[in-house]
Amino acid sequence: MTRRNAAIIGVGSYLPERVLSNADLERMVETNDEWIVSRTGIRERRMGDESMATSDLAARAAERAIRSAGLSPSDIDLLVVGTSSPDHALFPSTACLVQAKLGLGCAAFDVNAACTGFVYALQVGASAIESLRAETVLVIGADMLTRHVDFKDRSTCILFGDGAGAVVLRAAVEPGVESIVLGSDGTGADLLKVPAGGTAAPCTVERINERQQYVQMQGNDVFKFAVRVIPKATVQALTASGHSVEDLAWLIPHQANQRILNTVEERLGIDHDRVFSNVEKVGNTSAASIPLALDDLYTSGRLQPGDLVALVGFGAGLTWGAAVVRWTMTGPEQGGLPE
Ligand code: COA
Repeated sequence: MTRRNAAIIGVGSYLPERVLSNADLERMVETNDEWIVSRTGIRERRMGDESMATSDLAARAAERAIRSAGLSPSDIDLLVVGTSSPDHALFPSTACLVQAKLGLGCAAFDVNAACTGFVYALQVGASAIESLRAETVLVIGADMLTRHVDFKDRSTCILFGDGAGAVVLRAAVEPGVESIVLGSDGTGADLLKVPAGGTAAPCTVERINERQQYVQMQGNDVFKFAVRVIPKATVQALTASGHSVEDLAWLIPHQANQRILNTVEERLGIDHDRVFSNVEKVGNTSAASIPLALDDLYTSGRLQPGDLVALVGFGAGLTWGAAVVRWTMTGPEQGGLPE
């Protein structure tokens, strides 16, 4: 029996207009552009204004992805949103808000795997198609971590930005998502976390005074975890689909830090110009990072049909995931470039 595949037939992204530069951060905490650029490669990131929530960014990215697929919202029969910064702490899910904003007539739910959220959501979407439970799935990665970082903590507030990216997956005979490997290790949960606000430690005045409602991170340990897990997951996903690093047209790692990307590049022995990076302009956009990068690459005309691409994420949890995808979309000029 012919295997049914899930192919990416649409891609889109959205960044809020407001730019938060390193110079802006210099006015908020004791830091400087030179330190931030040399340690992270980040020069600026985007920040949603107060009227915006994660579902607004997600809906705009999704509209563009649906349009680039040449479809309409009524064609979508499942929506999965990867996010760890939902509009509401408990419910409704961000996916339900996006479903209403776009007028989709389908089931919708969130997946929380922090910065790995998009790869996890992709696994859910691709599996639904491969198991014949869906034909067309909208997969979004969206986060607004600027709402959750402490703008008094210079070691974290310089890293994160807001954004959203989306893909449309559709059942296909030709290859699409060829393999996905996912992993988790909760013994590393303390390395990157928001201590207060959940059932373990509800937000109290004391905890808020201790600033426990904000992201806390042990940067060095997260760095070591990232440079260990990205090459390993990439090779595992390539092996699972019968490929090797040499076959890759592009490696698209989660955009957390340029030094992490450089180390991964060395460890994998892959050319610098095949490792995509836009971290300089957007910072770490968490679950949005990979689909934002994919859209950036596609709309700049650097992805060709037939290209093999690895999408590799890592983040809090700890979580990680890698997907190997055969690109099938023709150039943006033929495929309908999103406005
Ligand atoms: N500006 C200036 N100095 C800063 C600073 C800032 N924004 N942030 C930290 N520093 C200082 C520290 O206080 C420390 O000073 P000290 O030596 O006097 O104590 C010094 O710089 C070195 O700090 P350290 O934390 O060891 O720096 P680092 O080289 O590890 O870089 C990170 C810090 C956060 C950039 C780095 O650890 C990192 O990128 N980790 C991975 C983070 C990540 O990707 N997280 C998301 C995962 S999804």
